[in-house]
Amino acid sequence: MAKATEIEDDNGFKMGEPYFCKECKRNHTKGKIYKDHIEFAEFENKTKDEVDSDNIELINDDFEDEAELIEAFNEIEAETDDFEVEEQLDAEIIMDKEENINYGESIQESINAVKKLPGVGEATLNKLIKAGFSSLESIAFTPPSIIQEESGLGDKTTSKLIKASMEQLNIGFKSAEDVWEHRKNIARITTASQELDDLLGGGVETGSVIEFFGEFRTGKTQIMHQLCVNVQLSEEKGGIEGKALYIDTEGTFRPERIIQMAEGLDLDHKKVLKNIVFGRAYNSDHQILLIKEATNLIKEQNIKLIVVDSLIGHFRSEYIGRGTLANRQQTINSHLHDLLRLCDIYPNLAIAVTNQVQSKPDVFYGNPLQAAGGNVVAHGSTIRIYLRKGKGEQRIAKVVDAPHLPEGEAIFSITENGISD
Ligand code: GTP
Ligand code: MG
Repeated sequence: MAKATEIEDDNGFKMGEPYFCKECKRNHTKGKIYKDHIEFAEFENKTKDEVDSDNIELINDDFEDEAELIEAFNEIEAETDDFEVEEQLDAEIIMDKEENINYGESIQESINAVKKLPGVGEATLNKLIKAGFSSLESIAFTPPSIIQEESGLGDKTTSKLIKASMEQLNIGFKSAEDVWEHRKNIARITTASQELDDLLGGGVETGSVIEFFGEFRTGKTQIMHQLCVNVQLSEEKGGIEGKALYIDTEGTFRPERIIQMAEGLDLDHKKVLKNIVFGRAYNSDHQILLIKEATNLIKEQNIKLIVVDSLIGHFRSEYIGRGTLANRQQTINSHLHDLLRLCDIYPNLAIAVTNQVQSKPDVFYGNPLQAAGGNVVAHGSTIRIYLRKGKGEQRIAKVVDAPHLPEGEAIFSITENGISD
């Protein structure tokens, strides 16, 4: 079907004006006239101002050439078509849908900021929210290709949104003094062991991904449980007064351990359990999806800790054989970057992950055990802690990699009431 850009203007039709097409019995509000529809076109008596502001802004923008213009129109058409289908739905269904959308106050504030970005109309906003981009930060910090893929928006619209979000957030260079000011006040969650806290420079810090790796029964899952309880504590007691989101890939989350740990701290275990949002990831795709879905949940539910136990277990069992290695590493890398991005978007969020170890057959001297996932995981997590067994209840933690911590060790215990010195 030929587009209006290909026809002579001697028919008297003008681009950019809305019209009703008698053939397909629909309003075409974006001003694109199909050649075959010309004789059915009936212009509405609307001024340009009345046309959806969404469309106007794109139409009025400076498009470099006709190809770009057509792309923009196609994009708008796809968006508006979605809307037109929705309009045809039973009114009751639409009422229902609107009533169900009840965002919390803080998330509504973020959404309003996105709504104010140039070129964002109802349709674009809905697509962004559905894809989890409901704040300026989430748009500014996400690569354009990911926003496009997940929201279905076109590349021109996406880059404009990113640029506008960055401008609004004032993202650019800042002085090292400002960075120090921010780091000085960084919030931390206690591990419940003074020694381990000291090793970590005061506890598990927000704004980074911390990885605990080690052999089986070294306490990785126990530390994750303990952090879910401790994140809820008041600041004086070493917490940050937030909820936890626990993503369990191994089926080892035990609420009974949470109850024991809560009781050890004289907390109401019912409340503590309520403040842990739990998600069981059944495979690696599901795990990736849960993290993507977490974006909206974090603000809505005041989540200040995300746990992934374990990070790459599913990937190791699903991607088998040398041929799948490159693909596996790439997928883990992008999953880790989803996590790191959450820290950028929500600086008050801590992320703790566990990782298994694998034996390196070519190591003859020293420790042949190495964290699984290779360089991708090593570079992805900000702080890496190696755990090993000591005598009885004792466990030894060692800083393997951290941008600001010296290499050192701490001894802690796993008791009935959780982690302690
Ligand atoms: P994998 O997930 O198998 O790789 O191990 P992990 O490092 O996650 O081990 P986890 O954190 O589950 O630690 C299990 C160990 O914690 C057990 O072997 C016990 O030594 C200890 N543990 C678990 N529950 C209790 C408890 O109620 N009391 C005491 N004293 N120790 C416990
Ligand atoms: Mg475990």
